[in-house]
Amino acid sequence: MSDADHIKKRISDLRAEIRRHNERYYQDAAPLIPDREYDALVAELAALERDHPAWAAADSPLTEIGETPTQGFATVTHAVPMLSLANTYDVDELRAFDVRVRKQVPSAQFDYVLEPKIDGVAVTLRYEHGALTLGATRGDGRQGDDITRNLRTIKAIPARLTTTAPPDLLEVRGEVFMPKAGFVALNERRAAEGQPVFANPRNAAVGSLKQLDPRIVAQRPLGAVCYALGACEGIAFDTHAELLATLKDFGLPVHPRTWICPDLDAVLAALTELESLRHDFPFEIDGGVIKINQRAWYDEWGYTAKSPRWAVAYKYEPERAETTLKAITIQVGRTGILTPVAELEPVTVAGSTIHRATLHNEDEIRRKDLLIGDRVWVEKAGEVIPAVVGVRKEKRTGNEQAFTMPDTCPACGGPVTRRADEVALRCTNRQCPAQLKQWVRHFAARGGMDIDGLGDALIEQLINRQWIESPADLYRITREQWRSLERMGEKSADNLMQALDASRQRDLWRLIFALGIPHVGTRSAQALEAHFPDLDHLMAASPTELEALEDIGPIMAQAIITFFAAPHNQALIADLKAVGVNTASHRPATARTGPLQGKTLVLTGTLPDMTRDEARARIEAAGGKVTSSVSQKTDYVVAGENAGSKLDKAQQLNITIIDEKGLLDLL
Ligand code: IVH
Repeated sequence: MSDADHIKKRISDLRAEIRRHNERYYQDAAPLIPDREYDALVAELAALERDHPAWAAADSPLTEIGETPTQGFATVTHAVPMLSLANTYDVDELRAFDVRVRKQVPSAQFDYVLEPKIDGVAVTLRYEHGALTLGATRGDGRQGDDITRNLRTIKAIPARLTTTAPPDLLEVRGEVFMPKAGFVALNERRAAEGQPVFANPRNAAVGSLKQLDPRIVAQRPLGAVCYALGACEGIAFDTHAELLATLKDFGLPVHPRTWICPDLDAVLAALTELESLRHDFPFEIDGGVIKINQRAWYDEWGYTAKSPRWAVAYKYEPERAETTLKAITIQVGRTGILTPVAELEPVTVAGSTIHRATLHNEDEIRRKDLLIGDRVWVEKAGEVIPAVVGVRKEKRTGNEQAFTMPDTCPACGGPVTRRADEVALRCTNRQCPAQLKQWVRHFAARGGMDIDGLGDALIEQLINRQWIESPADLYRITREQWRSLERMGEKSADNLMQALDASRQRDLWRLIFALGIPHVGTRSAQALEAHFPDLDHLMAASPTELEALEDIGPIMAQAIITFFAAPHNQALIADLKAVGVNTASHRPATARTGPLQGKTLVLTGTLPDMTRDEARARIEAAGGKVTSSVSQKTDYVVAGENAGSKLDKAQQLNITIIDEKGLLDLL
């Protein structure tokens, strides 16, 4: 091949590869390679296209932004295209950016604004006369998905602007993200429920907003920040800083911290400060965004097909380390799912040592093309969870070994199967000791029956001695038996007996969660307790009755029905009752039969004579339910003085609004 042919081939290979990555990133929210590697491919292609304009093609992936429409959502055309940003990892390129913008518009007097860069989902929010009328994803930049219903569930996004004089039209652009703590908690819950976990907060945010059922979105911990303007009428801004200040006044979420910098040196100093604060933000940031502050000249700098020429993103080198994948072991979960786990040569990433990382499932191993013995990159997803993000194939020696999932359970030797609708393999032996261990752990966990002192080592001993076959058996273990366990003093045995005894009287929702019904987390369990007086009523509920509840979607309703239909689960519940575990709600019986039975109320503002807690208690005592946000399912909004956006939303949804006196009448 001639040089020219080589270059031509490289361009076409890069285009194909970038397209493949785009697809995985945008459509499946499951990137194949770290951002840094993707960005390097893009930079290489951009340089080749620049040097060989003859081969630049109209359909180059460099001129396309990401996503194709998602099934199930209406497509909306953006009034003003939603652009992305040029990005760099290199301070010299920032200097080049500064030189370029100064040369391009020599008369412009300007300063810069630096903002943190959150890695989430870009969205646009359309406010007409102050009311949120549309929320959409970026899509391909021109058209995106209408996800208004999902965005309305995010508390940070106001249904109405908090101003008495809203502009006719205000479209703001921003990022929806999942905070680090919420991400970790969500993944813990998903793992406990046998569902696949998200690789990082960004994927979790994307996956959440793609849900067709807004009730699921409402349960996801999502936040938002606004940082740019789309279409607007009846309002104008001279500077970006002014835009941000106005958005804040309007009640829109903006970055808690931004810097105004007179010149590039000040930008670089601010970037250093931002990096030192990097881990203090409740959300993950992957760099900083530098924008020219003076909006008047934006059109003179203009735009490329993908991004404005007056802004640039500076991205941090990822915090990751290289290490060896020594082995892949199998962990058997509570519901029998076999999860492959990477056993790593210990390595330090962002201040802590990583030994193991979940590989989720076999498909994930194939996708990443991992071999045992590989040198791999590890990162901390959400800055917390260790993850293998890539493999250094160029370092292979030929001694690496392919991994295959076992065809029997490594814990019990029992058969494993794959359900038609799942990628995961499961051990089907209900007596499997590994499953039993995770099951008992879940049952005793803090969010569940909260059995203090029942740690892993103890649970293992109980299983090894064949004293337990289900969590109910925990209550049958005698003091003598506890005393006979390794490292178990008299005091600890007494404490455990007491902890177990106390757990017999836990709230009903804790028991519901502890049962381990797929998809049912603590919050859904609480919603169930609020509706059902005891477990028997819950077990007898119909799908329609379950779905009518605020926090229960059709998938969860089905999971609950299936769970209670299984004879072994019915036997477990009978057994729990037999050992004295409470299966009734402690909430007063009147709570379900009072004048507000079945009614959902929202409190907003200050009531003249009652505190909020008092109002809530009285509503609950009358059988009503108090929720924090207004939706179609709200029956009454009780508004006091200084009522805010909830009142607006109630008006918008035509929900009956009452004051304290109205509430007392109802009671
Ligand atoms: S400005 C025309 N500002 O990062 C304005 N984007 O990698 C374009 N992002 O597409 C966006 N933080 O989704 C802007 N402070 C910020 C941002 C930000 C995060 C996202 C946004 C953008 C992507 C580029």
